[in-house]
Amino acid sequence: MNGAGNRGQYSAAERERGRLDRLYGGEILHVRATATSALAAKQVRDDLAGLLPSETDPRDAEGTLGLAAFTKCLRGYLRSVRTRPEWRTWIPAIVEEAGLPLATLRFDTPNLRVVLARPEDKEYSDAVCFAHRDTWSAHHQAQINWWLAVYDTPWEASMAFFPDLFTHPVPNNSEEVNYAERRFLDLIGRASEAERPSPRASGDFDRSAEKRIPTLAGDLLVFSAAQLHGTRPNTSGRTRFSLDFRTVLADDAERNKGPENVDNRSQGSTLMDMLRVEV
Ligand SMILES: [Fe+2]
Repeated sequence: MNGAGNRGQYSAAERERGRLDRLYGGEILHVRATATSALAAKQVRDDLAGLLPSETDPRDAEGTLGLAAFTKCLRGYLRSVRTRPEWRTWIPAIVEEAGLPLATLRFDTPNLRVVLARPEDKEYSDAVCFAHRDTWSAHHQAQINWWLAVYDTPWEASMAFFPDLFTHPVPNNSEEVNYAERRFLDLIGRASEAERPSPRASGDFDRSAEKRIPTLAGDLLVFSAAQLHGTRPNTSGRTRFSLDFRTVLADDAERNKGPENVDNRSQGSTLMDMLRVEV
């Protein structure tokens, strides 16, 4: 990853602060696998291998097993990944190893995302491939998103970023998000996708400067939650697996640090439900 100018002139804390401020300014960091991100990626690869018939590469299983059998194998596992107790130590470790500040860190636990290699399936693409900022879903303006590659991920399976639009308003339906209402629906078990659609960019916007970043297993893409991004049809011929989680520095949130809000109209904040670093 990039350093902060002449390393000799800056303390570790200043370098960490500098990286975070660059993320707030719209930079996307590609961090090579750290000890703990590599460990997390390997854990998921081992788990997936254990769920599927031997000799079946998880990346090819949607084709070799068929979609229904593949989905059945994964269903319970996808739900269980988030609740692994290891994340409470692994995530702060990853943040530290990536050279970002830990003080007053809040975080959530990762989702395992599976993007099928079905670029010809328009219904599937419409459901999963849409551009958005995470801030439109009531995530804090100071939030940082972390995307972790479980396997090597080529350009054809990578998500897209639109960094040129970081400071430009994009039409969207974020006004439909009220976090307090969504939280209540979650509590009473009525949080279907129909009741809480994910906000998305609407209408036309300039996609010409789309950026994709191929990654190796364990690599991290680190970016502001205000960064416009989205899944693209996976034309790699293999299923893509990735983990993603989110962090916020509570001190920065309190001081209203982070990028300017250019087009987010969601209400409430997910910050209250994030975990703290255990000391
Ligand atoms: Fe997102």
